[in-house]
Amino acid sequence: MIRPQLAEFMRRMDQKSVAIIPSAREATRSNDTQYRFRQDSDFLYLTGFDEPDSIAVIAPFREHKYTLFVRPRDPEQEIWVGRRAGVAGAKSEFGANESFPIEEFEGKLQDMLDGAEKLYYRLGAYPDLDHKVIQKIAQMRALNRKPIHPPRTIIDPATIVHEMRVFKSDEEIELMQKAADIAAEAHVEAMKAVRPGMKEYEVEALVERIFRQQGASGPSYNSIVGAGANATVLHYINNDGELRDGDLLLIDAGAEYKGYASDITRTFPINGRFSPAQRDIYDLVLEAQVACVDMVRPGTTHDQLKERSIEILTEGMVKLGLLKGKPADLIKEKKHEQFYMHGLGHLLGIDVHDVGVYYYDKQSRALEPGTVMTVEPGIYISPDTKDIPEKYLGIGVRIEDDVLCTSNGPRVLTTKVPKDPGEIEALMAK
Ligand code: GLY
Ligand code: MN
Ligand code: MN
Repeated sequence: MIRPQLAEFMRRMDQKSVAIIPSAREATRSNDTQYRFRQDSDFLYLTGFDEPDSIAVIAPFREHKYTLFVRPRDPEQEIWVGRRAGVAGAKSEFGANESFPIEEFEGKLQDMLDGAEKLYYRLGAYPDLDHKVIQKIAQMRALNRKPIHPPRTIIDPATIVHEMRVFKSDEEIELMQKAADIAAEAHVEAMKAVRPGMKEYEVEALVERIFRQQGASGPSYNSIVGAGANATVLHYINNDGELRDGDLLLIDAGAEYKGYASDITRTFPINGRFSPAQRDIYDLVLEAQVACVDMVRPGTTHDQLKERSIEILTEGMVKLGLLKGKPADLIKEKKHEQFYMHGLGHLLGIDVHDVGVYYYDKQSRALEPGTVMTVEPGIYISPDTKDIPEKYLGIGVRIEDDVLCTSNGPRVLTTKVPKDPGEIEALMAK
């Protein structure tokens, strides 16, 4: 009954060690109302347990290898805020060997630490728990005339868990495909519905309605719906502008499905037809995006992807008159960053900007089968840019797909929403 992820984590731990993995807590939104609960990503990955105020203790060398401390059942609380699995459910439904009410964690901490040579515990995430753990170890050290042995080393469990999370299992890929399908459907419906005169928030509502309707817990990050020059603001989330005839609309929105994120950006003309100037920018971004998607193969490094996107975009921007000079010199002087100032993409999984090492020392990591990343080049031309053709002012374009690296090459999870300009125009004309 122990999840494969947890079994693998246990296998990779030093055997005479213990891991303490806390859940997330509920977070106050204002006064006495709370944000919708979102589980801690590592805790969710290892345990599948979706309740706050819980702690997993994992000790491969003990008889009971997996202990869950949870909120006990409480009929009164459950009437107000919902069902809890409780101590019994932690064992019967979630595979814990042992389970206790969370209130008993501190009382049992010494016994759990005693005899473990290493403690896997991520310092810095939950300072009050840090304090309890460190204080307990200090107390145990002071008992050195007794047969009590606190851990001598504290290691970040992320060294194991995050590396595991980089490589997606078939089951995880299925969930990510579903998250991608839901988001793709929402983008398609937005393309079909958009008309001049609408507000950005109407489009946001349409997109997020489909997320929820299709069973996603909601967006996997704040949806960006930027019309006209708002598309040139990278993290624009006000979404309260008007959609004007003749402008582009940039939607960057992804769904979270059973804990897994998708992350899609599409940019399209509000009136259904790209202008020639918009096509100039769009076609260039698409050229870079398609070239980089094709490079999502085992052995390609993150730096190689970024460099290729910079080369294509810089050469194109020189041709369009956005930059002046030799592409190689412009790249050396980072002149492209005036219009392309973010990374090419990021790992994707339970977190939209997923965990994982991008550099070994200074060496960029290569992609391997089972890794999923976004490919999302863009060009953003602020309306007050000087010395460029006026027709490009205020245009922002990003195109973002989610791509699984396989031994046979890239598998794009987000093909169900078009990015070819002709296909977009045909869809919008329907
Ligand atoms: N929407 C966040 C990102 O594209 O990275
Ligand atoms: Mn995005
Ligand atoms: Mn992204």
